[in-house]
Order: sequence, then C-alpha cells, then structure tokens
Amino acid sequence: MDEGADCRHIQVEPSGQGLGAEVVGLDLSAALAADVFEEVYRAWLEHQVLYFRDQKLSPAAQAAFGRRFGELDTYPFIEPLAEQPEIIPIIKEPQTRFNFGGGWHSDTSYQPKPPKATMLLAREVPARGGDTCYANLYAAYETLSPGMRRIVDGLQGVFTADRVHGGGGFYRNADHPMAMHKDEQDVTRRVEHPIVRTHPESGRKALYVSYPHIERFKRMTREESRPILEYLAAHAVKPEHTFRLRWEAGTLALWDNRCVLHYALNDYPGQRREMHRLTIKGDAPR
Ligand code: SIN
Repeated sequence: MDEGADCRHIQVEPSGQGLGAEVVGLDLSAALAADVFEEVYRAWLEHQVLYFRDQKLSPAAQAAFGRRFGELDTYPFIEPLAEQPEIIPIIKEPQTRFNFGGGWHSDTSYQPKPPKATMLLAREVPARGGDTCYANLYAAYETLSPGMRRIVDGLQGVFTADRVHGGGGFYRNADHPMAMHKDEQDVTRRVEHPIVRTHPESGRKALYVSYPHIERFKRMTREESRPILEYLAAHAVKPEHTFRLRWEAGTLALWDNRCVLHYALNDYPGQRREMHRLTIKGDAPR
C-alpha cells in the first residue's frame, strides 16, 4: 500500500522515519466495521507500528480491539489488572529508577511462540520524556551485505528470559511498583529460533535480533557468538531504521513483534508514567 493509496475508509500518515504511521480520526471505542478493520490491519502490516491519538478506552474496550488482531496472550512475569487479566499495567513512579522495557527487544522472544503483536495504551505520561523507540527489522536484514546475509541466514539463536529475569538479571533486583512473579520454568527455559525469520503474512525476512533474550548461537559458545550478536544488534537499531513515538495520554500504539524491536526510554526522573499493555498470540518463528 503506498502512503494510504488503497485506503478508502481510514487516513494513514506515515511517520517519514524508518517505520511507523499514525491513523487519524478513528474512534476505537466502537467496534470497527469489517472493511475499516481490514484497512487498519493492512496498514499495520505495511507500517509495522501504528498509533492512534486521543483514544478513550476502558480496559474491556482495549481488550476487545486487541481481539480483532487475534487471540490475546498472557505475560508470565507481571500481575495483570484484576478487571482485565489480559492487560498488564506498566508503571514507573516518580521515585522509581528502573523502567520496564528499557533496552532494545522484541517482546518475550524467549517463548516458544512469542506474541505477534503488542498493544500499548498510554494512561498517564510524563510532561517530558518517556518516548518509545522502534526499529525496523526488515530494513535491518535488507541492509546487510550479501556475505553477511548468507551467514545470518543459517543461524539459530538460543533464546531465554534468564539473562533479564534470572538471578543476575536486572528485573529480579529492580525497584519498581509492579507486582512481579516468576515461574522458574519460564525463566530457565531455552528455545531455539532462527535469527532471520520470515514474516508469515508479508513473506519478508526480518533480522530477529532481540539481544537481551539471546544467550548464544546454536552450536557456538557465548564468547564466540557475542561479537556477531553485538554487531547485529547495533546494526538493527541504526537511526535510519528507527522511529520515535512521543506519547500523549490516550495514545494507543500497536506494533508487530515479528519485524520490530522497541525500547522504552528512561529519561523522566521524578515523573509518573502508566501504560496498559496487552499482547496477541503468535506462531513459532520460522
Ligand atoms: C515494553 O517493552 O513493552 C514497554 C514499552 C513502553 O513502556 O514504552
């Protein structure tokens, strides 16, 4: 779809950056007609991150919109909202130092079937700071040299939550106001995913380099894997591959974890930020 060329029902404004677009003028609190939703879905596949301003959604309405994209998933480590168990609150209080999601990653890529999408609704935002950055993993793959693409095409990664949620991981000891829980199995499990995955809907290849969740490459040690992994992680988030979203209360964003990394900035000490997050079930990366 070119810059909204095929859109009869919605207005899509591309960010002009490495990915991302705003959908203007839609009220998501009412169920979207099938043909309108189809355009939203196509725009989302094309732009990888869509955002909608000024949404007034109850948790139930957010979940209902999420379900249009597929079956809702659960997150293993944070207590969800009592009234809407598919939604987790992501809160940073003025006195908290730690921020959730403060490193480039694809959500829960350490799971056998990581979620295809994440939907975040801004409930309260700082006056300044607290943006989220996104990186385009199609562009990351496509801008590698042919020689490097041949190498990464054959790589499998060993993915785990251990490096971030395990004993030495920063989530375990972090000061934050969210009720965390852990199931040791979720923490210690290792799963293998291709480092280059083919998007099941677009057919395009994406560099699936969710760095904090990748321990090493299969059949290689961490020491051997690390220089390549670090190169790929830095390459993926070059400024020209990225988009930075400035939140307002009521902004809802939806991103495609199969071809996008994201990073929540931690630059608003002394201010409060509260987001409501849900995820949509995905397939095993191939
Ligand atoms: C996340 O990693 O899901 C959190 C993103 C954010 O709070 O901006």
